[in-house]
Amino acid sequence: MDPLPTLKWMGDSLRLLDQRELPVNEVYIDCGDVDSLASAIRTLAVRGAPAIGIAAAYGAVLAAITTDSGSGFREGFLVKLDKLSGTRPTAVNLFHCIEIQREVFRKTGTREDAIVLLLESADNLLREDLDASRSMGCYGAELLEPDSTVLTHCNAGGLATAGLGTALAIIYEAWDRGLIRKVYADETRPLLQGARLTSWELIRTGIPVDVLPDSAAASLIRDGRIDAVIVGSDRVAANGDIANKIGTYSLALAASKHGVPFYVAAPLSTFDQATDTGAEIIIEQRGREELSTLGDRQLLPPEAGFWNPAFDVTPAELITAIICEKGIVSPISSKTVADVHSRVDMFL
Ligand code: MRU
Repeated sequence: MDPLPTLKWMGDSLRLLDQRELPVNEVYIDCGDVDSLASAIRTLAVRGAPAIGIAAAYGAVLAAITTDSGSGFREGFLVKLDKLSGTRPTAVNLFHCIEIQREVFRKTGTREDAIVLLLESADNLLREDLDASRSMGCYGAELLEPDSTVLTHCNAGGLATAGLGTALAIIYEAWDRGLIRKVYADETRPLLQGARLTSWELIRTGIPVDVLPDSAAASLIRDGRIDAVIVGSDRVAANGDIANKIGTYSLALAASKHGVPFYVAAPLSTFDQATDTGAEIIIEQRGREELSTLGDRQLLPPEAGFWNPAFDVTPAELITAIICEKGIVSPISSKTVADVHSRVDMFL
């Protein structure tokens, strides 16, 4: 299976499939500077932990291309890199990729030299992400029984990565092996990544998908209609707690209560050994307008307050296994997470 055209380097700009427009319009935007890319990340034209990391890696190339080669070049470049770091706080992939590019830059001399090496590094990160998704798919598919019905949340597919996805990479591989009967996709309020993006991806591949309101998931699980829950992650803490799209924790609670396996698919670029537990993960808070409007319609009385966290933390004890490109982490503990992380060869 080929990856989706989620992001593509065009020589002097980064082309993004604009995810705000899906599933109605398949349109592309070209980001030719750091400001436009930072805005695309902030407004979720490109989204999903691995995808924003890779986008930022190419953003570093844009930073080098668009900064004058004079005496202020090095400082100007680093200011632009910081702008990319400030776009979204929760997915650690963004910071990993930016740190890799900062280190590549540190070793370069001229601006031309920097452009070549930063681009080579961004291309490598993209390739590694694609390989990681294939490998997660194979490991994860081993966990599923024939004729499985699985539930997923948000979009952890090709749109969220530079490859085939994380949770959806497993579903794609399991589908190819004849193990999947059907997928249920939570709609994922308020930005509807499940309804708009996951269903779009699955339908393209011919996989049957039913979309449900997030609030219907617990009773679906209780009724014995789900064989496994599979989600992605934005950050895996050193003790195995994970941050993922808001609503993931409720799913994990329901799965645990009813004895349904709860799997998290995350490449090692999403593991953060510097964060001890989920309590330390910064949860992005987003704006009121995401809750107060639906298209042109006002949903809230103007006096209503709001609380709109984009992510929540699921404790390790509720997770059956974490699937990464080096294998399956289960049971989950600081030791098993550290062991798998020590196999990482892509970081500095
Ligand atoms: O706010 P988003 O759409 O960027 O959130 C994305 C998610 O929460 C995904 O589940 C996560 O990034 C893992 S996907 C590979």
